[in-house]
Amino acid sequence: MKAVGVFPAERRYEVIDHPEPGIADAHQVKLRMLEVGICGTDKEIVSFQYGNPPEGSHYLILGHEALAQVLEVGSQVTGIQPGDLAVPTVRRPCSVATCAACRGGRQDFCFTGGFTERGINARHGFMAEYVVDDGANINLVPAALRDVAVLVEPLTIAEKGMTQLWQIQQRLPWTQNAPDQPRGTGLRAVVLGGGPVGLLGAMKLVLEGFDTYIYSLSPPGSDLARMSAAFGATFVPAETTSIAALAETVGNIDVVYEATGSSSLSFEVMKYLGTNGAFLLTGVPALKGPKPVDADLIMRNLVLKNQVVIGTVNASKQSFADAIADLAQFHQRWPNAVGSLITSRFPIDNVKEPLSGHAGGIKSILTIA
Ligand code: BGC
Ligand code: ZN
Repeated sequence: MKAVGVFPAERRYEVIDHPEPGIADAHQVKLRMLEVGICGTDKEIVSFQYGNPPEGSHYLILGHEALAQVLEVGSQVTGIQPGDLAVPTVRRPCSVATCAACRGGRQDFCFTGGFTERGINARHGFMAEYVVDDGANINLVPAALRDVAVLVEPLTIAEKGMTQLWQIQQRLPWTQNAPDQPRGTGLRAVVLGGGPVGLLGAMKLVLEGFDTYIYSLSPPGSDLARMSAAFGATFVPAETTSIAALAETVGNIDVVYEATGSSSLSFEVMKYLGTNGAFLLTGVPALKGPKPVDADLIMRNLVLKNQVVIGTVNASKQSFADAIADLAQFHQRWPNAVGSLITSRFPIDNVKEPLSGHAGGIKSILTIA
């Protein structure tokens, strides 16, 4: 079958022929891959800065943001039928007996670093015609979401972040007080970055009732500005608005949702986080050496304003379920906005086009079947 193989030692990647996998135990499911999203992580992997092939393989099959159709199920699999739409999770647990996170099914919090990730770290990914996985790693998607469900995995990042945010903000008991209103009603959120993770996070924040601002480098008249307005967020162009002016416009910043991977921007914005605010970091910067940070002001604010900083990576099975439910909500409320995040689709043979970074737009997708 066709697959996209990355050969780090040879510094090349291309469409390869890889043996088609088959169901090898009764708990497995065989999937026909339909679409795979392309993100910054994939671009780092094809520039050989990140990722590892499985043990004993010269190459890694790329791809972790998948949408598939179930082709075959093992005899012990329940609740999954051939024909169902499915999104697999990405991370698999480490094997260390004392890793409480992995042993508890929460490898997204793995302590040891011995986890693997499909299409990223020591496990083949989803840019292939067929994939086999354990039924326990499969999330079913309603057929009505066929056109947008490839966005589930990037949305899980926001879902895990928001779940933690609400757990932490339970320390502010009054924020839970109005059961008839979304939890974020009356609160203000700033999203840093207008890529897919930023925009999906912004949609989630709007859905939760936050007054939501997207601070991005895109110019004022861009598609991103129009798109933000379409789902009720306020676009603030970084090109013409300083961070101080952004803070002035927003008022008390209750939440910052960072999706840029820029440490300079993040620590600059941290100076303006509001009283009792939470700062969620999802971007992964490359290590480029130390940078100046206004540490006294930031530490002073963290203490005197009861602030919290949360880093979040990967997502649990529950976050996939949350993402599927919320994607359905987005689709219902803003049918055109969600679809418009997907700005280009490429056949698998043209995989180099979107990965070379010149495709532009917001989200590029590889179509496999
Ligand atoms: C993926 C996560 C993964 C992370 C780090 C992200 O692009 O969405 O599932 O944990 O990269 O490898
Ligand atoms: Zn990704």
